[in-house]
Amino acid sequence: MQYGYFDDEAREYVITRPDTPYPWINYLGCDEFYGLFSNTSGGYCFYRDARMLRLTRYRYNNVPADAGGRYFYLRDGGDVWTPSWMPMKSALDRYECRHGMGYSKISSSRNGLAFSQTSFVPLGDNCEIHKVILTNESKAQKNVDIFSFIEFCLWNANDDMTNFQRNFSIGEVEVEGSRIYHKTEYRERRNHFAVWAVNVPINGFDTDRQSFLGLYNGFDQAKTPFEGKANNSIASGWAPIGSHHIKAVLAAGESKTFVFVLGYCENPADQKWDASFKDFISGKSGNKGVINSKVINKTPANALLEKYKTAEAADTALAALNVYWKNLLARFTVDAEDKKMARMAGVWNQYQCMVTFNMSRSASYFESGIGRGMGFRDSNQDLLGFVHLVPERARARILDIAATQFPDGSAYHQYQPLTKRGNNDVGSGFNDDPLWLICGVAAYIKETGDYSILDEKVPFDNNEALADTLFIHLKRSFYYTVTNKGPHGLPLIGRADWNDCLNLNCFSSTPGESFQTTANFESGIAESVLIAAIFVFTGPDFAEICRRTGRADEAESAEKEIAVMIEAVNQHGWDGDWFLRAYDAHGKKIGSRECDDGKIFIESNGFAAMAGIGAEDGRAQKALDSVKEHLDTPYGIVLLQPAYKDYHLELGEVSSYPPGYKENAGIFCHNNPWVTIGETVLGRGNRAFETYKNICPAYREDDSDLRRMEPYVYAQMVAGKDAPHFGEAKNSWLTGTAAWTFVSISQYILGVRPVYDGLLIDPCIPSTMKNYTVMRHFRGADYHITVDNSAGIEKGVKSITVDGNALDGDVLPVFGDGKKHEVIVKMGV
Ligand code: GLC
Ligand code: GLC
Repeated sequence: MQYGYFDDEAREYVITRPDTPYPWINYLGCDEFYGLFSNTSGGYCFYRDARMLRLTRYRYNNVPADAGGRYFYLRDGGDVWTPSWMPMKSALDRYECRHGMGYSKISSSRNGLAFSQTSFVPLGDNCEIHKVILTNESKAQKNVDIFSFIEFCLWNANDDMTNFQRNFSIGEVEVEGSRIYHKTEYRERRNHFAVWAVNVPINGFDTDRQSFLGLYNGFDQAKTPFEGKANNSIASGWAPIGSHHIKAVLAAGESKTFVFVLGYCENPADQKWDASFKDFISGKSGNKGVINSKVINKTPANALLEKYKTAEAADTALAALNVYWKNLLARFTVDAEDKKMARMAGVWNQYQCMVTFNMSRSASYFESGIGRGMGFRDSNQDLLGFVHLVPERARARILDIAATQFPDGSAYHQYQPLTKRGNNDVGSGFNDDPLWLICGVAAYIKETGDYSILDEKVPFDNNEALADTLFIHLKRSFYYTVTNKGPHGLPLIGRADWNDCLNLNCFSSTPGESFQTTANFESGIAESVLIAAIFVFTGPDFAEICRRTGRADEAESAEKEIAVMIEAVNQHGWDGDWFLRAYDAHGKKIGSRECDDGKIFIESNGFAAMAGIGAEDGRAQKALDSVKEHLDTPYGIVLLQPAYKDYHLELGEVSSYPPGYKENAGIFCHNNPWVTIGETVLGRGNRAFETYKNICPAYREDDSDLRRMEPYVYAQMVAGKDAPHFGEAKNSWLTGTAAWTFVSISQYILGVRPVYDGLLIDPCIPSTMKNYTVMRHFRGADYHITVDNSAGIEKGVKSITVDGNALDGDVLPVFGDGKKHEVIVKMGV
């Protein structure tokens, strides 16, 4: 069944009942301050780094689910309820949650009292705004008590949920009028604090959790709202919270608006304290707070709260945010009869790409925000999905990533967003990593035409003394693969390749040991056919970049290496009906009919087809036919078959998952678009679109009880056919699926593909798709592209006109004139 619908006009997903099969969330923020926000107002926020600077507490994997958020308790007469449904699961006469581009709005009502909460992070400021409107829809006056509620995190989210012997003694707050300040650790080394404020006078407050809730109560039984009176508690240690108590008298039909702001503020180290400290001690200033505590210099908070002190100011900020998203998404829009495809490709898929750009894999409802930094491989691939939206930021991101590369071309597997330094948390030596840098840089240059990035001096291993041009980084990436080959002339896999769980040199028999950082057996033998295919796919971009920057000799040498690699795949990477996946540390085949389990894998087949390996002699077709035959399901293509039933020491984590989950034969959505793109290389538009559609969430909106995740975003994984919950999705939002599906639909199916000289028009669509239009902003001009497929074919362009003139070839030129150009494409043979 469905739990909502797409409002395409407003670019919102409208959730119509609160008890969705899993919390359906949205992301607030697009720069440095972020909030995760669920359809019942759950979630948390942080400044820049979800681990180190978390403002509010959130309990993952808790009961009930989604505990913790920005809550409002209403007391209408004697009736206490929570208008976002959670935490009290209050019966509501009306409920709706609209998740839009960077904002969410929850509206509900009960017994004639209507509530709405519009939540967002304004552009340029480090805060969440929650604009709350109460409306008395009844015929009589209402006396309403509002209790706001947030729970502060003591900044370091990891420490916050483990180090209780210290944390229960360090919490500190200050209250000044309607402003509650959280200043734990501010007395020592922090120069930042949080503020939770409302723009009206309050009748009371609470800052101590136990005083507000009662020790043995959950959020659903908070004692203070039932008592109807705040305790004016001042937290000292234990668990600091922020709760305002406001008494609102509403005449029949009357509305009242409140602007709540949750902000992050910083002071220079020498200006941390307020000069009026003395008044505070003497009690003259009227501040309530701990007597032995100095008073925060509130200058930054004052400025922030002054700015958002009225509903109009909040509305203006929201309007600016709307304009920001409108302009951003205007860079690529689609109009087609298939509304599901159009709304995903034109809006939600790109929105998700922006979120993955901002979060990498750090904070979602499945990534706790404390574990993972920015992945070298992931960040490069994410770039493919947002480079057309924010090319300047993609440029900066590339330079950050490249700066963590080792001098030999290999890479730390991840780096910290705050320090931008590589770290060894998941080690290094994932031998596919270097190649993704070429992939990312090539995408950036094709989008922008900006070759100057190649001349940027970029450190290796963040060491300025080792800096060299980005071009040299690419060269080291390319030759890292060339110089790290195994017995069959195929690339050595190292710790793993794209598939983090194919750990062929790990041999772990110790419970809990990391599969990624353990090497009990450095074979120097295990090889990856996937890395070979990635090399053949991205290598030509390296060669092309060489040629276009006057390095013809380099280009030629690179092309020779690519030819050698193709030959190695032909010789040792083909299994008869599909491409092999790898050779293990003993030189045994993986992904071969000779294997008992794991006979066929998706990755090497999809990527080889994308790279055009075997396209001329029918092997690519054969490989993708085999993928369809052995791996396809209505919910997408599973990663391998048959699923591994037992743990294999020589394979590592892939065989650790129960059959049908994650890399062990789950539908790992990230790699499905490789098959989609491979199908378009072969000209099979019907099948390409089928593979696109099967993993696209909008087509499963009415199947939400099974799929469970948000119908407006991709999930990393859908349980495969071997799993008891076949079809159930997990790990929504932060996945490389977002970028790759956007590449597959925009560049290869709809066929509007940036190339070095312009925009290549090369659709490969289902024969039933008769026409569509794409609006593409590209290098300073707008291309309004209308594709006419009345011929009903899958691939083939017969003619193109640009502004009425016939175009020679299929690459739209770079106009860069700030104008709109009309492009008419006729498909045909
Ligand atoms: C996760 C990782 C990604 C990896 C994939 C397959 O999505 O973030 O780096 O390629 O799993 O293991
Ligand atoms: C990838 C895989 C996951 C594995 C992780 C290890 O994200 O999807 O299964 O645990 O890599 O880093």
